[in-house]
Amino acid sequence: MAKHFLTLNDFSSEEILKLINTAEKVKSGNVKPNVLGDKNIAAIFEKPSTRTRVSFEVAVSQLGGNFVFLRGDELQLSRGEPVKDTARVLGRYVDGIVARVYEHSDLEELAKHSGIPVINALSNLYHPCQVLADFLTIKEKKKRMKGLKLAYIGDGNNVCNSLLIGCTKIGLNISIGSPKRYEPKEEIVEKAKMNAKKSGADIQILNSPQEAVKDADIVYTDVFISMGDEKEKDERMKTFLPDFQVNTRLLKNALPDAIVMHCLPAHRGQEITEDVLEGKQSVVWDQAENRLHAQKAIFMYLF
Ligand code: CP
Ligand code: NVA
Repeated sequence: MAKHFLTLNDFSSEEILKLINTAEKVKSGNVKPNVLGDKNIAAIFEKPSTRTRVSFEVAVSQLGGNFVFLRGDELQLSRGEPVKDTARVLGRYVDGIVARVYEHSDLEELAKHSGIPVINALSNLYHPCQVLADFLTIKEKKKRMKGLKLAYIGDGNNVCNSLLIGCTKIGLNISIGSPKRYEPKEEIVEKAKMNAKKSGADIQILNSPQEAVKDADIVYTDVFISMGDEKEKDERMKTFLPDFQVNTRLLKNALPDAIVMHCLPAHRGQEITEDVLEGKQSVVWDQAENRLHAQKAIFMYLF
């Protein structure tokens, strides 16, 4: 049966740590794998992307494979062809699928019917490739992960969900500061609690950003309006601003050597200020670079 990379919840702590180790080795140049030699990888993108698309395309090329980029709106999928039909056809042509979709269930359907590995390049529920790169960045900057405190400020979205799942798998304490009604969904929090029982990670879901950030080693934020949420723009802006912005005042509650992370794209003046994003504590450019190394580790695990 094909292996997939849809959510970090499908992986043990040991497997996640192994993926990070592999990414570190690849980054250091110690291994030059050709795991995708003669393999074709289809990439379905239903939403825009800069980092994920380019890092995947370059990773596939550097691993010896061929990348077949497919815009969602140019596929028959956009005209109603069922996902399971698309999956079975792609499974006859290519060796793996990378997909950025609106509905997480579409990834599960692709995985179920294609017979080849499927990688989640972002869905409404999760962004696991992002969080793998984030962990690589945290390990590089802090030299450890277990026992640290990560504070996520803002919308309880796909990135927040993957952080919740990933952190609780590996024993990284996580504190979420979200406005009421924008907290992560109960179903995700329940999964995280199950993981935390095993890893010993502490989870806090708070409505106070100051409290969430208190003594944090890592302060993380993401956009207030995710792709697909555009129609809620006005309401979200009113709810999130000014309290849920990562700025110097909020950052003062974290540890003095805290690092600031953002999956990007950033909206300066909304979820983060220019001075914090460009400031000394920000690690966002290394974080973005690490997407490339992490994607390679994922391919090395799947192929
Ligand atoms: N962080 C991230 O996934 O960026 P893109 O939307 O540019 O791929
Ligand atoms: N939460 C954001 C992440 C973008 C990389 C979105 O889904 O649009």
